[in-house]
Amino acid sequence: MPQLARLFFYEALASLALMCGIIAYKGKRTNAAEIVLKGLKKLEYRGYDSWGVAVRSNHTKQISIYKRTGKIGELNLKNIKLPVGNLAMAHSRWATHGGVTQKNAHPHASCGNRIVVIHNGIIENFLALKKELQKKGHKFISETDTEVAAHLIEEYLKGLRVEGRGLRVQKLKEAVQKALKRMEGRSAFLVMSTDCDAIVAARRGSPLIIGKGQDGEYFIASDIPAFLQYTNRVMYLDDNEMVVLDGGHEFYNVSDGKSVKKRIVEIHWKPEQAEKGRFPHFMIKEIMEQKETIHRAINQEEKLIMRVADSINKAFGTYLVGCGTAGKVCMAASYLFSKIAKKHINVEFGSEFPNFHHFIKNRSLLIAVSQSGETADTLEAMEVARKKGAKLMTIVNVEGSSMDRMADLAIHIKAGPEKAVASTKATTSQLAILTLLAYACAGKLNEGRKVLVEAASQINDMLNPRYEKYISMLARKIKHVESMYVIGRGMNFPMALESAIKLQEVSYIHAEGFAGGELKHGPIALISQGTPCIVLVANDETRSDVISNAIEIKARGGFIIGVAPQREEVFDYWIRVPDVGNASPIVNIIPVQLLAYQLAVLRKNNPDMPRNLAKSVTVK
Ligand code: F6R
Repeated sequence: MPQLARLFFYEALASLALMCGIIAYKGKRTNAAEIVLKGLKKLEYRGYDSWGVAVRSNHTKQISIYKRTGKIGELNLKNIKLPVGNLAMAHSRWATHGGVTQKNAHPHASCGNRIVVIHNGIIENFLALKKELQKKGHKFISETDTEVAAHLIEEYLKGLRVEGRGLRVQKLKEAVQKALKRMEGRSAFLVMSTDCDAIVAARRGSPLIIGKGQDGEYFIASDIPAFLQYTNRVMYLDDNEMVVLDGGHEFYNVSDGKSVKKRIVEIHWKPEQAEKGRFPHFMIKEIMEQKETIHRAINQEEKLIMRVADSINKAFGTYLVGCGTAGKVCMAASYLFSKIAKKHINVEFGSEFPNFHHFIKNRSLLIAVSQSGETADTLEAMEVARKKGAKLMTIVNVEGSSMDRMADLAIHIKAGPEKAVASTKATTSQLAILTLLAYACAGKLNEGRKVLVEAASQINDMLNPRYEKYISMLARKIKHVESMYVIGRGMNFPMALESAIKLQEVSYIHAEGFAGGELKHGPIALISQGTPCIVLVANDETRSDVISNAIEIKARGGFIIGVAPQREEVFDYWIRVPDVGNASPIVNIIPVQLLAYQLAVLRKNNPDMPRNLAKSVTVK
C-alpha cells in the first residue's frame, strides 16, 4: 500500500479501535448470550455503531454468531434466536470512517467457524498476514484486520483434532499464543473455539479485566461496569499476558508461555453508581455528583498524602503528566504549587513528555494524572520515566488500572465510575487532591483540608435547581453562536483551556481558551459584535487584571459572561460562584460544565457520546 494510503488506513483503523466494548461470560448459567448482551448495553456510553455476539451451543458445540449495525435497542432475545449456552462473548464497534457494515462487525470467524474472535486495537501487519493466509486457502469475508486473527489461530490448529478436553484447551492456548507472536500492534483479543468450551483472552496495550464470580463463573470485559452487577472481584491482565478460562483460570506470559500468578482485587464501586438513575444523561449525573465527590477525594489517609508530598519536596524535578482535561488539571496544579508551596512543578502532556526525557534522572518524580488510568500517551510517559529510573506516582480514578499498577504509589480520587466521555467529577477530584498536596508540601495540610471542605460544602449549595435553570437560560441565549472564548489568569488560565475543551466536545461550538494577558497579543482580533466570552474570575491578585481584559473585550462588542464570586459592572451575565480562595479552579469549572451540557442538549447532541471521541484513549 502506498505510504499515504497506509497512513489514512491505520488512522481509520485506530479510530475504530478506540471505542470498542468487549464482554464475555463463561460459567454455569446457560443464558450466556443474554448476560453478555446486557453487559454490552452497559458499555453503550462508549459509543458504537455496530455490535455482535457469539455463543457456543451446549447442544451442538457449534458457535452461533449474530451481528448487526446500529444500536442494540431493547433486547428481545426471542427475536435473536441464539442457542442455549454457557460460553458467550459480545463486542460493540464504532467506525468513524466508513466500514459500518454487518460483515465488518465483530465477532469474526475462521473458515468453518472453528475459531471466533473479538478484538480491540490494530493488527498493524494484517495485510501481510492476510496474503500469507489467502495463499494457504483461507477465505476472508470482511475488510477488517481482526478476521486475520481468527484464520491465523485456525492455521495453527490445522489438522489437529486431539482427543480429550484438557488437551484441546492446551492446543487452543498454544495456537493463540503462536498467533499473538505473529501479530503486531496494540490489541486485546478474546478467542472461542468449537474444539472446547474454554475462552482465551490476551492483552497487548488495550485493557481487559477478568471478573471472578461464584462457582467457577468468569467475566472478561474492557470495562468493569459491564459485569459489576455480578461481581466486584477482579484480576487484571497485563501487557503481553493471556488467560485461559476453563472453569478455573490460568494466566500466562505470551512470550515464554510460563504461568503468571494473579491477585484478586476488590473493586469498591457499587453497580448503581454506574447507572444513570433519575438523570437523562451520565454527564449531568456526574456534574451533580460533585456535591459529594470532592469530600470523598480529600478523605485520604494523612500518611499517604504526606508520603507523596515528601517525595515532591525531595525530588530533583517533579513532572505532572496528563492528557486533555487531566493535562489542564496538571497545569492548574502548577500554579497552586507555586503559590501555596513556593515550588516549581513541571507540566507536560503525555504525548509530549518523551521529548523531555533528557532531563529525567533517577531522582526525578513523575506523577501521572488520569481518570481511566489507561490513556496510552500518559502510560508511555510513565514508561519513558521508568526507563530513566524516575519514581512514578499516579492520581487516578480507576483502581487497578494500568497506571495504578505501574506506579510506585497511587492516590485514588474515589470519584466512582465516570461514564460520560466529557470528564467532570474526575476533573474536580483531581484538582482537589493536587490542591491538598500543594498545602501538604508547604506543611499546611490542615489548612488545605479546611479550604477544600469549605469549597465542597459550597458546591453542594451551589448545585441547586435554580442554578441549573439560570445556566440553562443562558444556554438558550447563546445556543446558535459559532464561536466562543474563555479567559482566565493565574490558576484560572488552565481552567479557561479546560472550559474550551468542555464546550468543544459536547456542544461542538468552536471554543478557545486564553490567558487574559495574551488577548492583546493576537486573539482579541477574533472578537466581534455579540461574541460570547466567559471570564473566569478568582478573588485574588489576578482579579483586577482579568476584569480589565473583560472590559477590553466588551469594548470590541463581546458579550461578557462572568463566572465570579462577585458581580462586576462589565458582566452582561453573571454566574455566581462561591469565594473559596485557592479552590477557585474547582468551583469555576463547574458552571462551565453545566453550560456545556445544556448547550449539547439544546443543540440535540448526545452529551454522553460526543462524536469522534472515546472515554478511554488506549491507542497512541
Ligand atoms: C475531556 C476528557 C479527555 C481526558 C483525556 C485523558 O473531557 O475527558 O480530555 O481527560 O482523554 O483521559 P484520562 O483522564 O482517562 O487519562
